[in-house]
Amino acid sequence: MATILRDLSYRHQWLYDSISRTAALTVGGEERFRTLPMADLPISPKSRVLDLCCGWGQSTKYLVQQSQEVIGLDASPRSIDRAKANVPEAEYVQAFAQDIPFDDNSFDVVHTSAALHEMEPETLNRIVWEVFRILKPGGVFTIADFHKPTNLLFWPGLAAFFWLFETETAWKLLKIDLPGLLSAVGFQRCDRQLYAGGSLQIIQAWK
Ligand SMILES: C[S@@+](CC[C@H](N)C(=O)[O-])C[C@H]1O[C@@H](n2cnc3c(N)ncnc32)[C@H](O)[C@@H]1O
Repeated sequence: MATILRDLSYRHQWLYDSISRTAALTVGGEERFRTLPMADLPISPKSRVLDLCCGWGQSTKYLVQQSQEVIGLDASPRSIDRAKANVPEAEYVQAFAQDIPFDDNSFDVVHTSAALHEMEPETLNRIVWEVFRILKPGGVFTIADFHKPTNLLFWPGLAAFFWLFETETAWKLLKIDLPGLLSAVGFQRCDRQLYAGGSLQIIQAWK
């Protein structure tokens, strides 16, 4: 699964960003894709926000417009270095999302975009538990990631994208009921909206 294009897109920021921007056209463009998960959330300049699996700051760039206390976390030292250069307003930590080096009840918002589909189901489960642990009561976990299309017309495009850029874990995510998993861990309320023929899910889950 996946082709040389996956490796190339991770090496070359312009390639990843061009693909991401093209895919975002299905929901009205890059800015809308990046800000939809935070829609209507009461994020203030003092809200403590974690961008989990932040990459090189693609969503962090929008989070720092709402809060002065944004931290980006990613396992890749190269991504962290690029994020520091791209979005210097945030702080960064290199760590695994399934072993988050922060205290219990310490964040108002945890956001993750385009990353959960890279996790094996067991790792995904651990990440959800970790996010629940570090969120303050009343805090919110926002997710943007793939979903099984509800409109058949979106299947060929998604399948081609997965073949070119993704691995088996992306197919596995399509079979996972994320709201069900979040509820099982203890999230009190979980709102999910589908976009792009159902191929994109945006979730807001409250602790
Ligand atoms: C496809 S990129 C998404 C980047 C960015 N969030 C975005 O929306 O474009 C996935 C990111 O997740 C990171 N990642 C993958 N597995 C991880 C893990 N277990 N813990 C932390 N980061 C991880 C990768 O290093 C990569 O930067």
